[in-house]
Amino acid sequence: MKNPDIKIFNSPEKLVQALCDSFIQMISKTGQSNTLHVALSGGSTPRVFFEHLAHVGNNVPWQNVHFYWCDERCVPPDHPDSNFGMTKKYLLDKIDISDQNLHRIHGEKDPTVEAERYSHHLLESITKQEKNYPVFEWIILGLGEDGHTASIFPGQEKIIRSTKICAVAEHPQTGQKRITLTLPVINLADRITFLVSGKSKANIVAEILNNKKINMIYPAAMVQSKQNPIEWYLDKEAATLLKSD
Ligand code: 6PG
Repeated sequence: MKNPDIKIFNSPEKLVQALCDSFIQMISKTGQSNTLHVALSGGSTPRVFFEHLAHVGNNVPWQNVHFYWCDERCVPPDHPDSNFGMTKKYLLDKIDISDQNLHRIHGEKDPTVEAERYSHHLLESITKQEKNYPVFEWIILGLGEDGHTASIFPGQEKIIRSTKICAVAEHPQTGQKRITLTLPVINLADRITFLVSGKSKANIVAEILNNKKINMIYPAAMVQSKQNPIEWYLDKEAATLLKSD
C-alpha cells in the first residue's frame, strides 16, 4: 500500500482553491472524448468547495463531467439534510451542466429498493469496471470525527464488510437511514481524496495518519488504494496533531 499523499493548506479557503484547481486541471486533461465520473460527499466541508467551484467554474466543459454521490440521506432532494440538495444549491444551480450528467441517489424512495437501483445505474452509467464494480475516475470523501466516511460508520460490520456496490446504513446517533457506496467501490477509484478541515477533525486525522496499527477500527482508514496514494487535502487546523516524518 502506497503512503498517503498529504497536502496541508493555511486556511479552508486555500484548501478548497487548491482542490478546485486540481479538479479543473483534471477536466481539461480529460478532453472531449472522455468522461469523468466523480462521486461527491455531503456534509459542511464540501459546501465551501462547491461554492468556490461555482465561482471559478463558468468556463469549464461540464459536459464531460458526470456527478454521482458517495452517500445520501434517505430524505427527499429538497430536504435540508439532502446531500444532492446541498450540492444543487451551492454548485449545480450555478454551473452549465445538463441534468443527464447528474446521477443523484433517490433518497425519497425505499432505501433497499433504491440501493439496488443505484447499484445497477452505476454499472449502466460507468463503463470502466473491475470485478463487476463500477470504477470512478475520482471519489471525494469527507471524514467524520468518529472516523466514518461516506455513510460507513465504525462498528457497522455488515456495511464495512459489504461486497455490494451500495448498502443501506443507519446514522448511529440519529438512526437516519442512509444509502452509501461500499468500500470495494471506493477503493477501486482511480483517484481518492479526503477533504478535511477544522480543529474538530485534528484528533481523528492524527489517529488515522499517525498510527498505522490501531486505526483499523475507523472505516476511513479502510480506504486503501492499489492504484494511487490516497490524497488528504487538509487545512492547518485539521493537520495540527500530525507527526512530521
Ligand atoms: C454525509 C457525508 C459524511 C461527511 C462527514 C464529514 O453524508 O454526511 O458523506 O461522510 O463527509 O460526516 O462531514 P462534515 O464535512 O460536515 O464534517
